[in-house]
Amino acid sequence: MAKQEDLFKNVVSHAKEYGFIFPSSEVYDGLSAVYDYAQNGVELKKNIREYWWKSMVQMNENIVGLDAAILMHPTTWKASGHVDAFNDPLIDNKDSKKRYRADVLVEDHAEKIHQKAQKEIDKAKARFGDAFNEQEFVTTNARVIEYLAKEKEIRERLGRSLGNGDLADVKALIEELEIADPETGSKNWTEVKQFNLMFGTKLGASAENAMDLYLRPETAQGIFVNFLNVQKSGRMKVPFGIAQTGKAFRNEIVARQFIFRMREFEQMEMQFFVRPGEEMKSYEYWKETRLKWHLSLGLGKENYRFHDHEKLAHYANAAADIEFNFPFGFKELEGIHSRTDFDLKAHEEYSGRKLQYFDPELNENYVPYVVETSVGLDRMFLAVFATSLKEETLEDGSTRTVLKLPAVLAPTKAAVLPLVKKDGLPEVSRKIIEDLKWDFNVAYDEKDAVGRRYRRQDALGTPFCITVDHQTLEDETVTIRHRDTMKQDRVKITELKGIIENEVSMKNWLMKM
Ligand code: GAP
Repeated sequence: MAKQEDLFKNVVSHAKEYGFIFPSSEVYDGLSAVYDYAQNGVELKKNIREYWWKSMVQMNENIVGLDAAILMHPTTWKASGHVDAFNDPLIDNKDSKKRYRADVLVEDHAEKIHQKAQKEIDKAKARFGDAFNEQEFVTTNARVIEYLAKEKEIRERLGRSLGNGDLADVKALIEELEIADPETGSKNWTEVKQFNLMFGTKLGASAENAMDLYLRPETAQGIFVNFLNVQKSGRMKVPFGIAQTGKAFRNEIVARQFIFRMREFEQMEMQFFVRPGEEMKSYEYWKETRLKWHLSLGLGKENYRFHDHEKLAHYANAAADIEFNFPFGFKELEGIHSRTDFDLKAHEEYSGRKLQYFDPELNENYVPYVVETSVGLDRMFLAVFATSLKEETLEDGSTRTVLKLPAVLAPTKAAVLPLVKKDGLPEVSRKIIEDLKWDFNVAYDEKDAVGRRYRRQDALGTPFCITVDHQTLEDETVTIRHRDTMKQDRVKITELKGIIENEVSMKNWLMKM
């Protein structure tokens, strides 16, 4: 555990030191759970967004984009159910005065039990090697069976209690499991209460006429209220999708995990509109497709798992999370929800307008069903960044810090380094940059010895370093160094573009899906 905590601390400090993420308004000691993306972070974030957009919008003829406003008519949130039901169950510890999400305390406890089972499985795997049959072990080993049954029982009971709004039972569960305040160990808890997560604001010049608004807690509603506008103006035929990326805001109770749970964050959401009755087929398709998208980045299959929801949100008839193995354990990265016709019907009811589709094949009008994919851009950032950050021991015993980002997402694709700051080498380097910058983000660095410059680019995640030396002046060749292998090749300047393109092109990466 201590090791995991250290790793997480490293992630946070590396993000700051190398210009990826700063605490918001740091000169005033920051603002809790709000962060700014710095010069390299903004590039990484933009590349993740683009990787998503390309795979969802550009590669699918029947999915189009949208950029709806953050501020929406307040009735939107009444219709969507957020005013009445977008609550988290909170609990306070009377001794430490710390506030927690009651469901998260229970889920973390269940996860610890799961980890115990996993430990047994890993031990057996190491003992039996190739002969190990995991399926058989899991179904016959008494200890593993007991752990997994306990975990299931806890998760099911939590789901039931939350689903029924039985907060007293959530409190009872916390007491029965003897869950203590993670920071102080105290078990002196208050009752569990509901807390609405939406941020309120006001529209209008004078206090009397001001209209109460909310900052959107999800981007999805901007898609729902525009459903018919897009369908008609784009002559879209069901099934079709609308994709959007943008800011969302939640007054999170517990926001202590860096950019994992923020109060202002960005979502990448897609609503796929289908015929009623066809939503389950679509739901399965999108579950599989979204997992393939994540896997295409090469962060390791073992770092992902599905978690099918027992407790469904007020709008869903099926829901699953793609969970990722963050430095603090497996947690939700993306949600895939079958949202039925809940939202469109609710907007029909509250607006008095029809939000229906005329299906020419069936010759009938209906309110489409919706399958949603929703991934947090900041969580994607954290998943990619934390998994890529490595501390390596080299053959000569020295160590290096390297950010092995998927090359397609790296903020800077290549750094051009003149071996020395004289003899015309900087000029040749600049010329190479002038040529490459039309296609790639490239950097120039002439400060310090070349070895130190390599290390700095490793820590920034730059896939290639191009070194210009005296031989370059004679034969127009340079060395190109690969970040992950540290291998160096001598190549012609004219070959650079092709070599870089091959490693960083979105096409090559997305083709792995
Ligand atoms: N429209 C559906 C929806 O908003 P959600 O599961 O509440 O569903 C979707 O959120 C995704 O948004 C999550 O899987 C997560 O990646 C991201 N997300 C949610 N709350 C977040 C927060 N406070 N900070 C960062 N990301 C968040």
